[in-house]
Amino acid sequence: MEESKQNSECQKITNDHENDRFYEAAKKYWDAVTPNVNGMLGGFAQISPTDIDGSKAFLRPFLTISGGKTKNHRALDCGSGIGRITKRLLLSMFQKVDMVDQCQSFIDQAKTYVGAESSRVENFFCCGLQNFVPKTSHYDIIWCQWVLGHLTDDDLILFFKRCKNGLTSNGLIIVKENTTSSPKTEFDENDSSFTRKQDQLKDLMKKSGLTIVAEQKQKGLPKSLLDVYMFALQ
Ligand SMILES: C[S@@+](CC[C@H](N)C(=O)[O-])C[C@H]1O[C@@H](n2cnc3c(N)ncnc32)[C@H](O)[C@@H]1O
Repeated sequence: MEESKQNSECQKITNDHENDRFYEAAKKYWDAVTPNVNGMLGGFAQISPTDIDGSKAFLRPFLTISGGKTKNHRALDCGSGIGRITKRLLLSMFQKVDMVDQCQSFIDQAKTYVGAESSRVENFFCCGLQNFVPKTSHYDIIWCQWVLGHLTDDDLILFFKRCKNGLTSNGLIIVKENTTSSPKTEFDENDSSFTRKQDQLKDLMKKSGLTIVAEQKQKGLPKSLLDVYMFALQ
């Protein structure tokens, strides 16, 4: 299924086809994944509550509802899949949520999975983040979790810059990603994704003009999994 070009948020950003194979391989991988929480988490559905609790604790202090500066009007869930984060985290804290994912079958499943509260999901965008352009000054929180390894370094920098432009005043980009302790970035041919070192991720944030406001390691995950870090960016 083609990306939904009817949305002004989904644009063909580049005519350079150098990375087409990289993005197509990821799309092929995810198109074959079952649209449920286990599928979203690579067979580790049991870590979802720990992940969500850690995210809530990290995010809450920034919000005006908890004495912080960031409003809770509208959030964007990037690489949302079926809406695990939208359902368990964002809709419990924000009035409206938008979701964006490149996989149409996940977007199709989202209304059913999220349930009645999906009426507060304003937009379900089917779009690769490499082509996604958030509306200017539109989102209080842009949440990016377990998806940024699917963007090349150059596309990630451009995406971060577009996200920065999409934030309301005192808005935040939250990044929650696996990191590797290997000497350099690892590439997984299976799902066509990079696992970056923490320093490399930070370098890309800096190159995008973003400032790291807070960072924290997710606690309580199985030792067999990679370290997961959360960053709040402005
Ligand atoms: C590991 S799952 C995580 C889903 C969700 N963030 C969560 O934590 O439950 C990765 C998601 O990223 C999506 N994805 C992969 N490459 C993408 C891209 N270039 N643009 C947008 N979404 C992408 C996949 O379709 C899949 O839904």
